[in-house]
Amino acid sequence: MASMPKAQMSTVSRHYFGVESSEDNHSFYIDIIEIMQEDYGLYVWPCSVILAEYVWQQRLRFSGVSVVELGAGTSLPGLVAAKLGANVILTDNSHRTEVLENMEKICKLNKLDCRILGLAWGEWDAPLFDLHPQVILGADVLYENTDFDDLFATVTFLLQNSPGSVFITTYHNRSGHHLIEFLMAKWGLRCSKLVDGFSFMPQIKASSLQGKHSTCRNYAK
Ligand SMILES: C[S@@+](CC[C@H](N)C(=O)[O-])C[C@H]1O[C@@H](n2cnc3c(N)ncnc32)[C@H](O)[C@@H]1O
Repeated sequence: MASMPKAQMSTVSRHYFGVESSEDNHSFYIDIIEIMQEDYGLYVWPCSVILAEYVWQQRLRFSGVSVVELGAGTSLPGLVAAKLGANVILTDNSHRTEVLENMEKICKLNKLDCRILGLAWGEWDAPLFDLHPQVILGADVLYENTDFDDLFATVTFLLQNSPGSVFITTYHNRSGHHLIEFLMAKWGLRCSKLVDGFSFMPQIKASSLQGKHSTCRNYAK
């Protein structure tokens, strides 16, 4: 496997979860190895912090549940689900070995036993057919609009392959809602807005994300 590009400095960021989610008052924390510049799958995007907090706040729903995270990158939401007792498969683009390798390191660092799987959206490799998640997570996976159709194809397949499942995503509206709405109709998905990113975040986390707006949505077939 390829390793992280040498020119980019990596760091470990610590993310607290609990009543106050602060260093002094938390239930647990997750350490994430990331690089210090924004990078597609090697950086904790704000949507990931928001989705991870949503998972924590919905914690009673995650114990013993099967979860697949798509485009997981640094994987914070999936790791919170694993910490809460979910059976988690973290996936990212099978063509980006450096991202998958980093996911493995992060799981080891946090002593969490998640399966890591290369899964490229819109590609129909054999392991995809064995996935039957109850919850599909995806933080900031609506990023490049040229990938949206492939993402929706994979999400729709997983929702159909696992009746009763839902896709919970946070996204940063970079390209307008119209394309997303068009694709939802095309793929026959129903969507409901769950929360505005900042409405439920502890103050300490919201202030660290100021100016980066995201919304949490729930998709079903
Ligand atoms: C903006 S990053 C978000 C990463 C992470 N979920 C977060 O919020 O920190 C988008 C992620 O989608 C993954 N991705 C992009 N295109 C993909 C594709 N065609 N198939 C699978 N994963 C893809 C990238 O590797 C990257 O990890």
